[in-house]
Amino acid sequence: MRLKKEKDICILAHSYQTRDITEIADFTGDSFQLSVKASQTDAKTVIMCGVRFMAETVKLLSPEKTVYLANPIAGCPMAEQMDKELISAVKEQYPDYTVVAYINTTTALKTICDVCVTSSSAVKIVKNIENKNILFIPDCNLGSYVAKQVPEKNIKLLNGGCPIHARVTAKDVETAKALHPNALLLVHPECVPAVTSQADYVGSTSGIMEFAKNSDHKEFIIGTETAIAAHLAFECPDKRFYPLTKELICPNMKATTLIDVYNTVCGTAGEEITLDEETMKKARVCIDKMIELG
Ligand code: 13P
Ligand code: SF4
Repeated sequence: MRLKKEKDICILAHSYQTRDITEIADFTGDSFQLSVKASQTDAKTVIMCGVRFMAETVKLLSPEKTVYLANPIAGCPMAEQMDKELISAVKEQYPDYTVVAYINTTTALKTICDVCVTSSSAVKIVKNIENKNILFIPDCNLGSYVAKQVPEKNIKLLNGGCPIHARVTAKDVETAKALHPNALLLVHPECVPAVTSQADYVGSTSGIMEFAKNSDHKEFIIGTETAIAAHLAFECPDKRFYPLTKELICPNMKATTLIDVYNTVCGTAGEEITLDEETMKKARVCIDKMIELG
């Protein structure tokens, strides 16, 4: 804490990080909140405790800042599923479609997309797009959820998704509800429709946390990375939180340790994010559009 102050460093942590990291972070939140914070901080150096696309988003928004990913091995497998070549070919087949990219995509892919969305802003942004025809990439589960909320749009999906959330089944819901019959089910829209359709609330990591904190209910089944149930249990000691399954652990989000953060602050670890000017200029267009429409 002393070092980061002396060095004018801002530490951003995604809400899937463990408590020891969120306690020393300047800000903790979901992907959208982190992007907004990144564009607002005055600090010259930002350390991202999360996954690579999040650190790249910070760099896109603040090219003049020095941005580090605290643990360079932390990637998001969903972000790597579709590349520029594939989507360019799909765009040729659907020339009249607006390409909406989940923020969990590489910077290279963002250069050919029209607007980014996060799980907390996807419905609002898709509603606000003038074009009726939308090509939504890469997460078909988030895309299906958006399509249900915005039936007036013609949404084309591809077969991508989060390997962690997509693992959760309707059977897991049945088991969890049988064990905790009084609990509300709160899930992330990266889960499959058979799971989201049974939820009492569907939302981003921060949305789930806010819902649980503000609810009069006392018990909740949490259908997203287990860190969220752990943070909620700490913040709301009078309520009970049950992970929907114990399998909901993202190894990439868990790759960063407090020691990684300390070493990055000291300048002996972490990876500085560098992106070429042209790529940044093109990719920033859809990030700016996201902030404008969200
Ligand atoms: P949020 O946008 O809810 O923070 O989700 C990011 C993510 O990677 C979920 O798996
Ligand atoms: Fe990517 Fe899924 Fe991990 Fe989120 S939980 S970072 S979408 S792999």
